[in-house]
Amino acid sequence: MLGSNACYEGTTQAEMIFPYSLVPEDITPFEVPADNPLTLAKVDLGRRLFNEPSISLDSTISCASCHKKDLAFADTLSITPGIHGLTGDRNPPSLLNAAYLQSINKDGGVAKLDIQALVPIEDENEMGISIVKLIDRLQADPDYSRQFTAAYGTDVNGYNIPRALASYVRTLISFDSPYDAYTNGDISALSQSAIKGKALFFSDRLNCASCHSGNLLTNQSFQNNGLYNNYSDLGRALITLDSADVGKFRVPSLRNVALTAPYMHDGSLNSLQEVLDHYQHNLSGHTNQSPQLRSFELDDDEVQDMMAFLESLTGSQAKRGLNQ
Ligand code: HEC
Ligand code: HEC
Repeated sequence: MLGSNACYEGTTQAEMIFPYSLVPEDITPFEVPADNPLTLAKVDLGRRLFNEPSISLDSTISCASCHKKDLAFADTLSITPGIHGLTGDRNPPSLLNAAYLQSINKDGGVAKLDIQALVPIEDENEMGISIVKLIDRLQADPDYSRQFTAAYGTDVNGYNIPRALASYVRTLISFDSPYDAYTNGDISALSQSAIKGKALFFSDRLNCASCHSGNLLTNQSFQNNGLYNNYSDLGRALITLDSADVGKFRVPSLRNVALTAPYMHDGSLNSLQEVLDHYQHNLSGHTNQSPQLRSFELDDDEVQDMMAFLESLTGSQAKRGLNQ
């Protein structure tokens, strides 16, 4: 294994993993923070921590309990329980392509990936363990001490635990869907139905791409998509304390969306069919609802075409349960 003997300062070019080696040529590489370059040693450590139940108070819950690799690192439950069966309010999002996020969590409440993991680790409804206790626990394991030293040149500490996890998460990349193959010129990659669905998705009539745009099928803005009249989860307003942000959530990427049911911040819509019903018939008209949402009606063929398009956004590795 490369990098296992290298200390952080001594990290060499040979041990580095470059973003452009993880993403296809036609996709802009993600940025890696200058103070946490990606190396194989960090990614191996992060992967181990991600799958480690001992990082929760009662050693029952790992990151992978809620972010399942054969489900695009999301889950089939609306709300996945943490320790002692406790539950929060939100549906676990896919972590694929999280390296590209400009802000973290559905309300953008966490500034960067390198500190994100402290949230679930300390959240009493998720892993419920204090970082001090977690450091003690990991330091008591000689294997972890060795791996931290190899990755960062220091023993386990609270600064490097989330940075190792972020390093692993950055490698979870997915741009290998039939939609990508089609975009790159393989016109046989999409069915006629998916091609029609793509045209609908990008049409002015439906206007989906005014929010779900670009390589990730999101512009990463915060929007109210008319889910409720009364939001029990205030979304972006929890961070900005501005009533104009009530019910706004970050527009999610639609990559691998066929693998990540249920949908919306609370997992309240069970299928892509229900999502299409929502946009056609159930917009709440909340005062903050985006004016970019259109009123439209799809016939049965068009619904099938939209479904075929959304399914074409599933990456082939994600479909096999990303072998990482
Ligand atoms: C009990 C379930 C649960 C556990 C355990 C859990 N997560 Fe999450 N994760 C979630 C939920 C729910 C969200 C959405 C939170 C929000 O938007 O406020 C989330 C959000 C995230 C995000 C941000 C994604 C985005 O789109 O903004 C990352 C990254 C992440 N988790 C990584 C991890 C890591 C790393 C661990 C382990 C240290 C972990 N999660 C443990 C449920 C969980
Ligand atoms: C005004 C911006 C906007 C427009 C236009 C828009 N969406 Fe969305 N979309 C969102 C937001 C915001 C969410 C997440 C809401 C939440 O978390 O509660 C979302 C969620 C979704 C989801 C669920 C994804 C998930 O992981 O939960 C799908 C699928 C989806 N939209 C498809 C569409 C389609 C198809 C169209 C066009 C008919 C469309 N969207 C138009 C903003 C928009």
